[in-house]
Amino acid sequence: GLKIAVIGGGSSYTPELVEGFILHYNELPVRELWLVDIDSGLHKLNIVGNLAKRMVEKSGLPIEVHLTTDRRQAIAGADFVSTQMRVGMLAARGRDESIPLKYGVIGQETTGPGGMMKALRTIPVLLDVCKDIEELAPDAWLLNFTNPAGMVTEAIIKYSNVKSIGLCNAPIGLIKQASAKYQVAPDRVYAEFVGLNHLHWITRIDVEGEDKLDEMLADTAGYSAKNVPACEWNPEFLQSLRALPSYYLKYFYMTDEMLKEQLDSHNKGINRAEVVKRVEEELFELYSDVDLQDKPKQLEQRGGAFYSEAAVNLMRSLYNGTNDIQTLNVANNGILDFLPDNASIEVNCVVTKNGPLPLPLTKIPPSAVGLIHAVKTYEQLAIDAAVTGDRGLAIQAMAHHPLVPSVGIAIKMLDEMLEANKEYLPRF
Ligand code: NAD
Ligand code: G6P
Ligand code: MN
Ligand code: MN
Repeated sequence: GLKIAVIGGGSSYTPELVEGFILHYNELPVRELWLVDIDSGLHKLNIVGNLAKRMVEKSGLPIEVHLTTDRRQAIAGADFVSTQMRVGMLAARGRDESIPLKYGVIGQETTGPGGMMKALRTIPVLLDVCKDIEELAPDAWLLNFTNPAGMVTEAIIKYSNVKSIGLCNAPIGLIKQASAKYQVAPDRVYAEFVGLNHLHWITRIDVEGEDKLDEMLADTAGYSAKNVPACEWNPEFLQSLRALPSYYLKYFYMTDEMLKEQLDSHNKGINRAEVVKRVEEELFELYSDVDLQDKPKQLEQRGGAFYSEAAVNLMRSLYNGTNDIQTLNVANNGILDFLPDNASIEVNCVVTKNGPLPLPLTKIPPSAVGLIHAVKTYEQLAIDAAVTGDRGLAIQAMAHHPLVPSVGIAIKMLDEMLEANKEYLPRF
């Protein structure tokens, strides 16, 4: 049987993961599931962990659920480690979302200055987790969900020897949406993704062998998730782009509209962190009910809904060597010829027993190249700032982010955000 360690196990998403392990037990025989959290997360870990135990008990499967704050014990000998932690918790997220707004800049947890601060807080912790894996489970696969997932994955590629893969729920979400729209099974849909995490374009959508890109481009509401305001795309823009942009690209392509949405919410005292706090309270209330033995429907209010399906699919394919295609964050290795080999990119991969092999791209939207390159430049600078604590690199990262309008604003905003995060930034 397999040993799985989940770092950040107190997450409200954990029941989804447990549901996946139960549903797919035949192809992924999990014997030990170790849910790890830190002291301040123990309250959540206990509630979620006890629900996990009830779910397993109901299934009748021989899965042991362990709850612990001993990360090393959990990692030792693991076959898979998955990470879903939030360094600084929702309070830090709230600051990431609100401080940039004072400077007229998008406030978002993964895109822009908020994402940069999340990277600075998170990357050193993830690299510590990697040290434990190198020492105690060198053959394990690390599946990283922790955001900003693309940047965290790139930091791991560059600064550790762990076999790691970055994951996001957005690609599987798009496939699910197309499968519902055309009433076909998800495996009848083929979509080709190009770009970076939360910065991808879909250049091909085939449904049972028919090209549906034009029909998908005609839908200006497009595919979105609960955490991103549902501004409509401009129809002429979509048609002429010839690719379906990720909903996160609205922050770049419709910055004024998205900023206005954010300011309107902010002025009403609302940001996504606050909304999530309320959803979580509701979920943990439900999870505490000792009669509950299943994942509740309310979990779908989270932006990452169905993310663990991606995790279970990936573990299942790695374990069985199914050679199927999944959209993953992996080292570029020449796929995008304008980026370095060790840059992380989000593309379709064949999942072999030896890991994911990125597929060559059949199309790259010419107008997307510049933005991919610019955002990757910011990401590289921010990753190196996170690892070194170098202020100059942090200034360069902030100033080169395409959503930051000037050096003056970059430095003022950076200083305010570094100060607000100092508890979590020992290197600065
Ligand atoms: P959450 O706020 O519930 O945090 C999960 C747990 O992490 C908490 O219980 C917390 O105590 C714990 N934690 C904090 N610091 C830790 C540390 N140093 N070591 C171990 N555990 C620690 O978070 P969530 O809403 O479930 O999201 C978790 C993470 O997953 C976030 O980074 C989020 O952005 C990300 N996420 C990514 C995707 C994706 O598409 N890649 C989807 C969903 C969530
Ligand atoms: C999804 C993203 C995840 C992100 C989540 C936020 O769209 O792919 O990476 O973590 O939304 O959802 P939340 O409910 O926390 O706002
Ligand atoms: Mn994501
Ligand atoms: Mn700029």
